[in-house]
Amino acid sequence: MSLALHVNVDHVATLRQARGTRYPDPVEAAIACERAGADGITVHLREDRRHVQERDVRVLKEVVRGTYNLEMAASDDGLAIALAVRPDHVTLVPERREERTTEGGLDAAGQRVALARVIDPLRAAGIRVSLFIAPDDAQIDAAVALGAEQIELHTGDYADAAGAHRREALAALRRGAARAKDAGLRVAAGHGLTVANVVDVAAIAAVEELNIGHAIIADAVIMGIADAVRSMRDAMDRGRATK
Ligand code: PXP
Repeated sequence: MSLALHVNVDHVATLRQARGTRYPDPVEAAIACERAGADGITVHLREDRRHVQERDVRVLKEVVRGTYNLEMAASDDGLAIALAVRPDHVTLVPERREERTTEGGLDAAGQRVALARVIDPLRAAGIRVSLFIAPDDAQIDAAVALGAEQIELHTGDYADAAGAHRREALAALRRGAARAKDAGLRVAAGHGLTVANVVDVAAIAAVEELNIGHAIIADAVIMGIADAVRSMRDAMDRGRATK
């Protein structure tokens, strides 16, 4: 089975918002990611709008050629935006304003009523719904009961762990992916994945999609900085040459 790469471009927007400039533009980054072989683009429209803005969500819908995956909390506000923009996938994630990133999976088992209020209209609109959950039997079973077509397994525990704990976290991902696939769910995974730790997750046959953001944007900064310095040096030299 093939394994899709969806690049999360949130942190291009983080850099833009840090200065209130128009650049760097996550839309431009999304185009470059797809040209380089990404199968889709993911953004997380957080309730506090700390990085991605509603404008980005709308413009990306026009620009993304592969799969467009919008991550959001299961809120009325998010639902209205998703129904207006109509991304291919909506991934429902838990959200707390004070967290630095999405720290845990959704409690699909404990919040069935609140989730169904959002899942049902999204499904009726033809949008695939994915639930971002820990690789936990109760959560996987709740995703099935709620009628979600996909889950995204939270790989944060695996990514943060070392030694025996990491091996256990990887085994839990393998078991969760197999259980979900057997139950008829499409299985994605993501969070905290890097070039170093992605290999073992990519080896899990039941996983069909990875959502990766921070590490790719971080690598892009380091890999691109020499070209950026040369470009600035060149512009300065051109200025001096006209003197
Ligand atoms: N998947 C989900 C559901 C997320 O919330 C995030 C972070 O926004 C990611 C994947 C990507 O995580 P990272 O930026 O650590 O690659």
